Amino acid sequence: MGEVKLLSLIFIIAVALVSARIPNEVNKRKAYDGFERDLPDIYMDTPELIEYYGYPVEKHVVETEDGYLLTMHRIPHGKDLSPAGNRSVVYLQHGLSCSSSDWVIMGPGKGLAYILADEGYDVWMGNIRGNLYSRAHAWLSPEESTFWQFTWDQMGRYDLPAQIDHILNQTGHEQLFYVGHSMGTTMFYVMGAMRPEYNSKIIAQFSLAPVGFMGRLQTPISYLAKFVNQLEWIADKLGINEFLPNSDLLDSIGATLCKDEAITQSLCSNILFLLCGYDSKQLNDTMIPVIIGHVPAGTSTKTIIHYAQEVNSGRFSRFDYGKVENLRIYGQEVPPDYNLSLVTAPIYLHYAENDWLANVEDVMDLSNKLPNVVEKLEVSDHDFNHLDFLWAIDVKELVYNNITMLMKKHLNSRLHSNRRQS
Ligand SMILES: *[C@@H]1O[C@H](CO)[C@@H](O)[C@H](O)[C@H]1NC(C)=O
Ligand SMILES: *[C@@H]1O[C@H](CO)[C@@H](O)[C@H](O)[C@H]1NC(C)=O
Ligand SMILES: *[C@@H]1O[C@H](CO)[C@@H](O)[C@H](O)[C@H]1NC(C)=O
Ligand SMILES: *[C@@H]1O[C@H](CO)[C@@H](O)[C@H](O)[C@H]1NC(C)=O
Repeated sequence: MGEVKLLSLIFIIAVALVSARIPNEVNKRKAYDGFERDLPDIYMDTPELIEYYGYPVEKHVVETEDGYLLTMHRIPHGKDLSPAGNRSVVYLQHGLSCSSSDWVIMGPGKGLAYILADEGYDVWMGNIRGNLYSRAHAWLSPEESTFWQFTWDQMGRYDLPAQIDHILNQTGHEQLFYVGHSMGTTMFYVMGAMRPEYNSKIIAQFSLAPVGFMGRLQTPISYLAKFVNQLEWIADKLGINEFLPNSDLLDSIGATLCKDEAITQSLCSNILFLLCGYDSKQLNDTMIPVIIGHVPAGTSTKTIIHYAQEVNSGRFSRFDYGKVENLRIYGQEVPPDYNLSLVTAPIYLHYAENDWLANVEDVMDLSNKLPNVVEKLEVSDHDFNHLDFLWAIDVKELVYNNITMLMKKHLNSRLHSNRRQS
């Protein structure tokens, strides 16, 4: 097991370095027509997948205050339901190096986006700056290093407010439900602290695998974090501004090495387990090539560095530029902590014992600092890991059913308080 982990680690770093050099091609499917008959899901993008499974889909391009062009995906209603009616809105936000596809790749009845659409919600999926759907800017090009000077700090301060405003504008609603996974929770806490006026636009927030504090990270990646300054220097010198973009090469590696008949399939699942916690029961091996087809979806190297800083400091704070720059930017030598007491939106923390990235004690620290945690829900399966929140075979029964139940509870109590008022 030890060697497998080490090999997987070397493999990840090699792939990271190689793929950082591969130009991203948007229209990737044509090159792989030969594979399509096996699992077409590998090569379809999010809107194509949604359409393929018979659901309505919309694309919305949203410009942030600082010029990034984000493409959101929407399932306005379920398959059999008519578009009429005043549907409550749910916003789904993916995590690190992922995309809107997180919520649909397991298919109808399994992916959270489909489940919510079938329950009668208007489902919007964000795509954060730098991923394959949001690799665009009003005046910068992704070829320029300036484009990649962002972390989840900017995602929380600019991307989330822009997308939330767009949804509320389009639907005429004043509030929405927010579901975030991993980094999709980190950027939410950033928004709540840095743009506190957005808290009142949230009916309730569901944090899947919440990541605020990272001092107790368990994966072998934490050893790499110690070398963050050296890694930052190397990445800078090599001009690696983009981290693990979605690439044809990786997709075909996934399709070839990770498919059902391949003896290397266990290596693929071990890479996932290495990063996120071990759990072979809940991962459907057949789906690994599909996952690799959509993940990684790309982010900035600086985003990873920001997380590595958190692992080292044990704090939830803004990007550390070094003493001199920190003084210039923040007026103090150490980067300021995000003020979590400003995050007043009602929050549900969904966490799991075997999640190596969102350690239970770190989640408890977060819970103690957030002023409005309504409930902490530990997944009853003790082997459940970080990615199981998206793709576990039983995720609907273990997590999603609780979410839809809690959403209904919120809607009912709003209905009652509206009646009382009128
Ligand atoms: C949406 O934004 C447009 C342009 O800013 C504005 O004219 C319109 O009234 C807004 N709609 C709603 C429902 O807020
Ligand atoms: C695994 O995925 C395949 C392909 O989507 C599906 O046919 C199969 O039923 C899944 N297995 C489980 C246990 O969910
Ligand atoms: C954080 O916000 C709270 C509530 O506004 C405020 O009382 C407190 O002083 C802030 N803390 C810091 C360190 O700014
Ligand atoms: C989640 O829902 C199930 C039933 O659907 C329930 O048994 C379980 O207690 C809930 N989990 C939590 C942590 O509330």
